[in-house]
Amino acid sequence: ALPRHVRLVEVGPRDGLQNEQQPIGVADKVRLVDDLTAAGLEYIEAGSFVSPKWVPQMAGSAEVFAGIRRRPGVTYAALTPNLKGFEAAMAAGVQEVAVFAAASESFSQKNINCSIAESLDRFVPVMDAAREQGIRVRGYVSCVLGCPYEGEVAPHRVATVARELFDMGCHEVSLGDTIGTGTAGKTRQLFETVAREVPRDKLAGHFHDTYGQALANIYASLLEGIQIFDSSVAGLGGCPYARGASGNVASEDVLYLLNGLGIHTGVDLERLIAAGERICAVLGRENGSRVARARRCQ
Ligand code: HMG
Ligand code: MG
Repeated sequence: ALPRHVRLVEVGPRDGLQNEQQPIGVADKVRLVDDLTAAGLEYIEAGSFVSPKWVPQMAGSAEVFAGIRRRPGVTYAALTPNLKGFEAAMAAGVQEVAVFAAASESFSQKNINCSIAESLDRFVPVMDAAREQGIRVRGYVSCVLGCPYEGEVAPHRVATVARELFDMGCHEVSLGDTIGTGTAGKTRQLFETVAREVPRDKLAGHFHDTYGQALANIYASLLEGIQIFDSSVAGLGGCPYARGASGNVASEDVLYLLNGLGIHTGVDLERLIAAGERICAVLGRENGSRVARARRCQ
């Protein structure tokens, strides 16, 4: 049976905007987060406290957190790869943070400049500080259905890293198909394997739509009992360390699917479309949501 409720994790302001080449002003980022709040999203990844040399677009994250209007009950989260990032996030009033690892060694090196084992070691002080301050930590695993440098990634490698993140205290682990090569059957196999190590209700799906498979993979995940999905308004995004990776699956399109299945999310489709249209106008780029584009013709 399909779940009755799904939690959407909106990653557009982070995963979406981190990959934009052009400068985006703080005011436009703040407006995007506020628009997403107004659409009813309960969880918004609003920024990233990483090295500005590595990801210049996220350099203004503290200003973004200072500018947004926070709605009670909504979580505004940020990526923190190390203690330095965690401390900056705390100073900015971030409510929940995320650490990110990979299931592939080459990707780990390219993305965060260290091995998988080293990255997990670096997360320990972040977890300790977070525990002391009562901050929840989300964990990410990248390259769960393929790596831009190594190709195939076996599900058991993903399960090992997911288990480590869960055991060190991540309350939830999001499995990222960073380059969007996954297909529905492999997605089911993946969740089946990882769910032996981490409870299903603690797992999230994070699908990039590079090969146009993301919605099918989400449906496959729903059949596996997964109830948390990351998506990006207007399909913004990519990953600066995975060349050719396109955006996350568009939030509007995921919501359209879920609405059609009668699965509750609390998100308003029209307001979500409006949020996506506005940021696309700012960026001067085509809207990556098929639903948003279809609506313009109606
Ligand atoms: P490093 O160079 O190995 O780190 O980078 P370091 O500790 O040697 O520090 C080097 C410099 O960075 C120093 O500055 C530090 O102060 C500074 P310098 O002395 O040269 O002036 N630094 C920082 N500055 C600000 N905030 C920090 C921070 N840490 C160090 N937190 C590091 C290691 C992890 C920092 C770097 O590799 C990095 O920032 N990587 C970020 C990569 C990234 O953000 N990738 C995109 C997000 S992940 C993703 O998109 C995948 C996901 O969506 C899931 C999926 O789709 O698969 C989550
Ligand atoms: Mg991503």
